[in-house]
Amino acid sequence: MSEATHAPATEAVSHASSLGDVNHQPYLLTINRHSTGEVKNALPGVHVSPCFLDLENGMWVIYARFDPRTLLPKHYHTGTVHFYTTAGSWAYVEYPDDVQTEGSYLYEPGGSIHTFESKEGAEGFMVVQGANINFDQDGNFMNIMDAAWIERMVVEAAKQTRQKLPRYIKPKNATDFSDS
Ligand SMILES: [Fe+2]
Repeated sequence: MSEATHAPATEAVSHASSLGDVNHQPYLLTINRHSTGEVKNALPGVHVSPCFLDLENGMWVIYARFDPRTLLPKHYHTGTVHFYTTAGSWAYVEYPDDVQTEGSYLYEPGGSIHTFESKEGAEGFMVVQGANINFDQDGNFMNIMDAAWIERMVVEAAKQTRQKLPRYIKPKNATDFSDS
């Protein structure tokens, strides 16, 4: 063991605190969906608690509850999805044997295509990069569901049905030159 590879503890602590200064947080960016709530029927039968919507980088994190007999459009993913199921059950129509139930974690790679269906209802938490490209039953293009679309959907649904828009976390500063 050489001395050069092990900095003294005090040095390590001072290094950690200088790293902390890079992004000092006066408060944590945290929410609890039980207190912030959800937008009921953001889509028919889909109740959404937005958690983190990054329009610029195309990342959306939501908690969603799906009513029984929910069938969503077939969609193609431009990015990845991490989907953790917390209640009920659902499956992709194309993969009926891989039923997702409480405790299931599903990774969906970019480029995958499938059709969500929940017969008994389900709930889950998802972290999505990019967009879902939705298609109708005949395979025709419907729309692009990305972070911006999700925000517009929850804001509009809340406004039209006079629901309180839940608080969520959202980057505010647009990217710019470092010296502007
Ligand atoms: Fe998907």
